[in-house]
Amino acid sequence: MTTPVAIVTGSAKGIGLAIAQDLTRRGYRVVVSDLEAEAAEQAAAGLDGAIAVPCDVRDEDQVRALVAAATDHYGRLDLMVPNAGIGVVAPILEMDLAAWRAVTSVNLDGVFTSLRWAAPAIIASGGGAIVTIASVTGTTGSPLISSYAAAKAAVLNLTKTAAVELRAHGVRVNAVAPGFIGTDLVTAAAPEFERNLGLDEGGFGPVVEAKQGRFGTTGDVARAVGFLADPEQSWVTGSVLTLDGGLTSSLL
Ligand SMILES: NC(=O)c1ccc[n+]([C@@H]2O[C@H](COP(=O)([O-])OP(=O)(O)OC[C@H]3O[C@@H](n4cnc5c(N)ncnc54)[C@H](O)[C@@H]3O)[C@@H](O)[C@H]2O)c1
Repeated sequence: MTTPVAIVTGSAKGIGLAIAQDLTRRGYRVVVSDLEAEAAEQAAAGLDGAIAVPCDVRDEDQVRALVAAATDHYGRLDLMVPNAGIGVVAPILEMDLAAWRAVTSVNLDGVFTSLRWAAPAIIASGGGAIVTIASVTGTTGSPLISSYAAAKAAVLNLTKTAAVELRAHGVRVNAVAPGFIGTDLVTAAAPEFERNLGLDEGGFGPVVEAKQGRFGTTGDVARAVGFLADPEQSWVTGSVLTLDGGLTSSLL
């Protein structure tokens, strides 16, 4: 049986690392890729059969080189998970274009480049899957994170469009849309949310827990990615799997 190969961008830590770990358990060989080269090396060293390839997903040439590194090393590519992402917390009235683009260049352009250049390699390997990491913010108004939410909304549309375009080539494209997960991304953003929402210091966590039941874990997201990536889900494409403990199901 052929051993499947996956690339996970932004996988030196957080959700991406959990996805890389989960895929390794599922029998994939994983390319751990990140802006932070040393952290990627360390993460890959802990995974059976993994390699580390540094890549800034904002740079199309680096993304092309990342895909080439995967196919050169393993001879194939079955799955791309464009996971790399950042956040900026600021009201629209305080946001300038540079801050806007800092987010969209990673969270939208970086997903496009990853999908664009992985797809031909996956097709050449006989088909496979792409699982994008969107967010519940892609479907709701999301005060204080306009650039992040707009990028995630665009990722959802890109996912559906790519699903239709790539169907005939045997590539399924799906998204996960998580609520708040307890990673560095959220920990770093919490004080700005608290300041702008008039919450006490430390008040952000309890608000999230009240609306989601609990914070999501990186494993929650990784297992959903594994489900969507599984070739057994051969009719699942263009789908969005929401993981939010009911956050977006309730008006109050
Ligand atoms: N944490 C959440 O609540 C949450 C919820 C929904 C969706 N997401 C999404 O999940 C993904 C991972 O988020 P996380 O919470 O694990 O964040 P994180 O900050 O813990 O990890 C992000 C990783 O991406 C890397 N990265 C940043 N910019 C990069 C670039 N230009 N090129 C390559 N790598 C880059 C970082 O070095 C880091 O290793 C992001 O797309 C994020 O938007 C997170």
